Amino acid sequence: MDQLVITGGVPLVGSVPISGAKNSALPILAASLLTEAPLTLGRVPSLQDVRTQLALLAHLGVAVDHRGDEVVALHAHTLAEPEAPYELVRTMRASFLVLGPLLARRGRARVSLPGGCAIGARPVDQHLAGLKRLGAELEVRGGYVEATAPRGLQGARLVMDQVTVGGTEHLLMAAVCARGTTVLENAAEEPEVVDLAAFLRTLGAKIDGEGTARIEIEGVDALSVPAAMGPVHCIMADRIEAASYLIAGAATGGSVTAEGVDGAHLGAVLDKLEEAGARVARGREHITVALEGSPRPVSLRTAPYPGFPTDVQAQFMALDCLATGVSRIRETVFENRFMHVPELARFGAQVSLEDARSAVITGVPKLVGAPVMATDLRASFSLVIAALAAEGETIIDRLYHMDRGYAAMTEKLLGLGAQVIRRRAP
Ligand code: UD1
Repeated sequence: MDQLVITGGVPLVGSVPISGAKNSALPILAASLLTEAPLTLGRVPSLQDVRTQLALLAHLGVAVDHRGDEVVALHAHTLAEPEAPYELVRTMRASFLVLGPLLARRGRARVSLPGGCAIGARPVDQHLAGLKRLGAELEVRGGYVEATAPRGLQGARLVMDQVTVGGTEHLLMAAVCARGTTVLENAAEEPEVVDLAAFLRTLGAKIDGEGTARIEIEGVDALSVPAAMGPVHCIMADRIEAASYLIAGAATGGSVTAEGVDGAHLGAVLDKLEEAGARVARGREHITVALEGSPRPVSLRTAPYPGFPTDVQAQFMALDCLATGVSRIRETVFENRFMHVPELARFGAQVSLEDARSAVITGVPKLVGAPVMATDLRASFSLVIAALAAEGETIIDRLYHMDRGYAAMTEKLLGLGAQVIRRRAP
C-alpha cells in the first residue's frame, strides 16, 4: 500500500490544472447506458471511482475504449444481463445509478444496494420511491434491488422528501425516456446535476429547469448521439478538487490559482475564504486565492448547493485549525462526517465535538507533522492540508481513499512547490 510523505511549512504557489469532476463523470457514465449509439466523453478524470464505474459498465455489456488524454469511448449497443453485482457496487455508491437507466433500456434490472464512504447511513429510499412513482415494481431481496417495469416507465410528478444529489440524477436519467412528462420537485441544484442534464440534452432529451428545485422532463422515444468529430460532451471541472487546492494554498500562506474551474460554482466556499482574510479573484475559467498570515476563524454549516458543500467541510476545518480564534462547523448533510477530527488532533489541532454534527475548533499558532491515516475520500485531503501547513514531516497512510477522487495529486502538489513524496509503505 502507498503512503504520502509531506514536509510541511512551504507556502503553495502557482497554478494547478483541475480535472473533470468525479461527481459529474459517475452519473454521466451511468447515463451512457440509455443509448444504443456509440459516444465519446472528454475530460474523464483518471480516478479509481471512474475505473470502478467503467468496470461495471463493461460487466453490463458496454464496450469501453480508453482513447488516452481523458477521452473514453462507450458503446452500449447490446447489453448483457442487467445485473450489477455486490462486488462492483459495494465500494462506490454512484454505481447504484445504473438501476434507472437499465430499467429504462431493458425493463428490468437487479442491482446490489450500494456501499461507499462510511460517512453515514446514506439510504436510497428517495431513489426507490421515485422509481416506483415512475411505474417500476421493486423488491429488495438478499441485498439486491430487483426491479421491473412491465409496462415501461411512465412520467409522473415526484416531490422528493429531501434534497438528494444522486436521487435527483437517478430520477432524471430514468425519466428522459419515460412516456409523458415528469416533474421533479425539491430537486438538487448542484452544478453536477446541470452537467448531467446538458449531456442528456445533447442526446436529445427534453429537460427544463435543471439547476433549480423544479426540473421538468418530457420523455422521448429514444436518445441518439449527434455526429461529432470529438467528444459529444466534456465533463465539467471538479469544483471540490479546486476548493481543496485553494484551501491548501490559503492554509500555507501561499497563492494558488485553480485553472479551468468556474468561480460561480464555488460561491459559498470563496465567500468563506474571504471571511478568513484571503484575497479571492473569481473568473469563469480560473480562481485565485491568496492569504498572508494566519487565517481568521470562520464558522459555517454545510448545506445542499448553493450552500457550503459537505465535500469541502473537512478541508475547511483544517484551515480553521490554524485560525486566530474559535470557529464552529455544523454538518447538516451527513450524520457521521467528522472522522478526520481525531486524525487532525494528531497534528496538535484542537477540535472538540459538541455532538455528532457540530465541531468547535480552537485555532492554534502551528501544527506539527505526525503519522496519520486517511479515513474517507474528502477527509483525507484535510490531512494533506494540515501536513502542508505543519512544521516537520507527516506520513499519510491508506492513500486508496484519495485515489478514489483526486487525480494526479502528488504531481499537482509538486507543481505548486510542495515537498511531497509518494512511496510504497515500508
Ligand atoms: C453526492 C456526492 C457526494 C456528496 C453528496 C452531498 C456523488 C457521486 N457524490 O452523494 O460527494 O457528499 O452528494 O453533496 O455525486 N439520502 C436519503 N435518502 C436517499 C438519498 C439520500 O436519506 O434516497 C440522504 C443521505 O443519507 C444524505 C443526504 O440525503 O444524508 C444527501 O445525500 P445525497 O445528496 O443523495 O448524496 P449522494 O448523491 O450519495
